[in-house]
Amino acid sequence: MAKMWTGRTDGITDKIADDFNSSIKFDSRMYKQDILGSMAHASMLGAKNIISTQDADILIDGLDKILKDIENGDLQIDYSAEDIHMFIEQVLTERVGEVGKRLHTARSRNDQVALDTRMYLRDCTDEIIDKIKLLIVEIADKAYEHKSSIMPGYTHLQRAQPITFGHHLMTYAMMFLRDIDRFNDLKKRIDICPIGSCALAGTTYNTDRDMEAKLLGFTNVGLNSIDGVSDRDFCVEFNSDASMLMMHLSRFSEEIILWTSWEFKFVELSDAFTTGSSIMPQKKNSDMAELVRGKTGRVYGNLIGILTMLKGLPLAYNKDMQEDKESVFDSYDTIKMCLDVFAPMIKGMNVLTENMLVAAQKGFINATDLADYMVKKGMPFRSAYKIVGTIVSDCIKNNKVLETMTLDEYKKYDQIFDNDLFDEINLKTCVEKRISKGGTSPESVQKQIDFVKEKLANV
Ligand code: ARG
Repeated sequence: MAKMWTGRTDGITDKIADDFNSSIKFDSRMYKQDILGSMAHASMLGAKNIISTQDADILIDGLDKILKDIENGDLQIDYSAEDIHMFIEQVLTERVGEVGKRLHTARSRNDQVALDTRMYLRDCTDEIIDKIKLLIVEIADKAYEHKSSIMPGYTHLQRAQPITFGHHLMTYAMMFLRDIDRFNDLKKRIDICPIGSCALAGTTYNTDRDMEAKLLGFTNVGLNSIDGVSDRDFCVEFNSDASMLMMHLSRFSEEIILWTSWEFKFVELSDAFTTGSSIMPQKKNSDMAELVRGKTGRVYGNLIGILTMLKGLPLAYNKDMQEDKESVFDSYDTIKMCLDVFAPMIKGMNVLTENMLVAAQKGFINATDLADYMVKKGMPFRSAYKIVGTIVSDCIKNNKVLETMTLDEYKKYDQIFDNDLFDEINLKTCVEKRISKGGTSPESVQKQIDFVKEKLANV
């Protein structure tokens, strides 16, 4: 394809340079945004008499036809073109003749690509928010089923205190709600229309930037043309929000991997979301969760990559910025796939409540409750803590647990103990009594589920 920018140079470039320079392999996915942007631009040019309305109509019809032809497969994208913007303008000019050459009046690829990327990411952000919502619904449903299932809660990966599995799961719902908040917040900064910034300095034509912004569904118009073509903060932010989301998915994955191990056996994934081994017949591996954990690295890489690409750039547009797209597209593709696999994986997860309960019974995880029992009878917490610490240490030496000690044995440590202590250290009591706001009791888990569902209906 002859270069549309032949003029200052003869446009004859080395094949290696062409391949190196070309971005169409990855920016072709923005064909729709590019065409819609061009249609709005042509309308504005016509409305402002910068070109005739007849010409504007020819351009709009031609662009509309190109969009349909790409979508129904009648027009193949030529991957030897420089980028999607050049390709569409070229095809348009071939189809409608000289008029096609009027489209790029009062526009530059610099504001065009900024516009397309914003429009593309605007859609991606909405889609990701919807997918996070679906995941939260699955988590909340599973939490509802297990709002009374007892498991050991951990700190330092050591059994710490009894909790409900529903409570544990709702932690992730809270994380993903924050992710939705972040993506929603990003939408404000995507929603600034750059078209009309032109190459960098604006234009001498009597354009109507507000009209174009409105036609394209933007609320705001960028007020500095240099910023319009050089701002990629929204791409950095997309990668940053995607990284945070992946970090959450990865922590969840790690727990699922642990829970499905023989050592824990707290949950079992459905066959549809596990794989076998090519040599070990007994294996059922949590590959999906491992892949999500693994893919977190590439999304973090995209964030660091784009930050580094931008850090030394003088204003305004520089070709380095072409690197923004593979970065955000890869983050988008990755988080989309991960969310798609995660929601049904959680839905099909079988929770082995018996095993969780057994694990909760052996680790002195009700020791805090025993100390609290003494405190409620009047003893200062530190003193109670010390006595219970001694009891635990003696139990370990004598192969006992708090539940199997007799009242007489307890009384040897302190006269404060009475028969009611056994109810107090019963695991069911331990979780049911944790009714403090945000605590692990089934009642509190239900409140969390209600809160999350209400939030989902309003975000
Ligand atoms: N393919 C380019 C990009 O993605 C489009 C903008 C080109 N602008 C220019 N002045 N060469 O950034």
